[in-house]
Amino acid sequence: MQGKVAVVTGGARGIGRATVLALAKRGARVVVNDLHSMDEAQVVAREVEAAGSTALVQQADVADRGQMEGLFEAAVARFGRVDIVVANAARNVRKPLLELSVEDVEATWGVTQWGVFHACQLGARQMVAQGGGGSMVVVSSIHSFRPYSGASAYNGAKAAVNQMAKTWALELADHGIRVNVVEPGWTDTPGERGYFTEEELAAGGGLVPLGRLADPAEIARAVVFLASDEASYLTGAVLRADGGYHLRH
Ligand SMILES: NC(=O)c1ccc[n+]([C@@H]2O[C@H](COP(=O)([O-])OP(=O)(O)OC[C@H]3O[C@@H](n4cnc5c(N)ncnc54)[C@H](O)[C@@H]3O)[C@@H](O)[C@H]2O)c1
Repeated sequence: MQGKVAVVTGGARGIGRATVLALAKRGARVVVNDLHSMDEAQVVAREVEAAGSTALVQQADVADRGQMEGLFEAAVARFGRVDIVVANAARNVRKPLLELSVEDVEATWGVTQWGVFHACQLGARQMVAQGGGGSMVVVSSIHSFRPYSGASAYNGAKAAVNQMAKTWALELADHGIRVNVVEPGWTDTPGERGYFTEEELAAGGGLVPLGRLADPAEIARAVVFLASDEASYLTGAVLRADGGYHLRH
């Protein structure tokens, strides 16, 4: 990872933040993207610097093509190249089918599906332009295959990004670019804490065979493994990091 340049979307909080820190600890220079939590993004950047690496904070809405083009231009202007893309940011407007508006679905797909498309297409184009090689990791979800009631737009977007990632793995193999997917199970992040109380999260942990929710750092380790040269023969793979949740439910 030493000296490699990584772009992490939604890097200010949760799994994205943990991924930024894990990449930096291994020597990667990191572009920390976020849209909402820019104060937290600055804190993460300082933690990257404290780990002895370099960070560039770049505010952009992953759903906005122009802003994402600006993000990659800024990354290349600062670091000269992009070696790793982690497409992590997502949005989930949680409503049952009977209540969803078209705007709810578009907002969810904009971030969760188009955001992954923009990050990976722009990242791949940059990797090819610099001579090929590189690694992209899509942070999906166990809800790509297991329906979570009240989140059909999100579940559908996660299924779509899995299938897009596998297709890109096929298309980009000739360029030496690997594309893989991590499917987290229930993870204790600020996003989840916006929906559930401490008691509900603890009870949720009881549903997991390993007996607890994931720590974001545990998901980040799976992401960093796939992003690294240690995973040199893995492309189109789906790594499920869910404490065994899918075995029971
Ligand atoms: N937490 C879980 O239980 C869980 C389970 C399965 C999958 N995931 C997936 O893991 C990823 C990270 O989830 P998390 O729980 O860490 O989320 P989180 O809400 O804690 O953090 C997400 C980050 O993304 C940023 N973000 C949101 N919209 C953005 C946009 N349009 N552009 C740029 N940044 C944006 C947010 O500001 C935030 O910093 C997502 O893809 C999510 O679907 C999470």
